Amino acid sequence: MNTLRDLYIDELKDLWSAEKQLIKAIPKMAKAANDPELSKAFTTHLRQTEQQVKRLEQIFEELGESPRGKKCVGMEGLIEEGSELIKERPDPEVLDAGLIMKAQHIEHYEIAGYGTVRTYAQLLGADRQAQLLQQTLDEEGQTDKLLTQLAESSINIEAATAEDDEEEEETSRGARSKRGEREVSRRTTVEGGRGGARGGSRGRSGGRARETESTAR
Ligand SMILES: [Fe+2]
Repeated sequence: MNTLRDLYIDELKDLWSAEKQLIKAIPKMAKAANDPELSKAFTTHLRQTEQQVKRLEQIFEELGESPRGKKCVGMEGLIEEGSELIKERPDPEVLDAGLIMKAQHIEHYEIAGYGTVRTYAQLLGADRQAQLLQQTLDEEGQTDKLLTQLAESSINIEAATAEDDEEEEETSRGARSKRGEREVSRRTTVEGGRGGARGGSRGRSGGRARETESTAR
């Protein structure tokens, strides 16, 4: 690997491998999602991903190169993290919030790759290829923003509420096993603690979503 063109082709192969892996992985994420809007977002992105693969193949054809020969281990790892989350079978609301998190890691990984190859294409004077890559970069950015919107408008909040419900159940179980004034004092303590946990949890998820958005800009 001696030239920028070599590096360009290498990263294009990486992206092609990443997209091909995603075509297999996204349907599993869409199936696992409970929120219909989230499931729809995944399915829409699957259609986009198929087009993105075609754009890459068009570029390889222009370059007279093959897209094969490289496995994107970065994407393999990100997809594996998503599968692990699904296997853990969290509460549906928490799973949805987690799926958004994993999907945004994937989107940002792709955004980094496509931003780079778009710039390389410009430097190499391959304007048509730069345009195609910019188109994909825009789609990845839109998907990332849609995921942020879904997280911030409802899914993160529902996940935070699900956590509260669980804590309430634990509290009433605990309270049943206690007697008299100890029960009263414990309940007071737990209620205080719950308020704190709820605030903390909302704060954390909000912070994460904002961070994601600012990185995307
Ligand atoms: Fe993609």
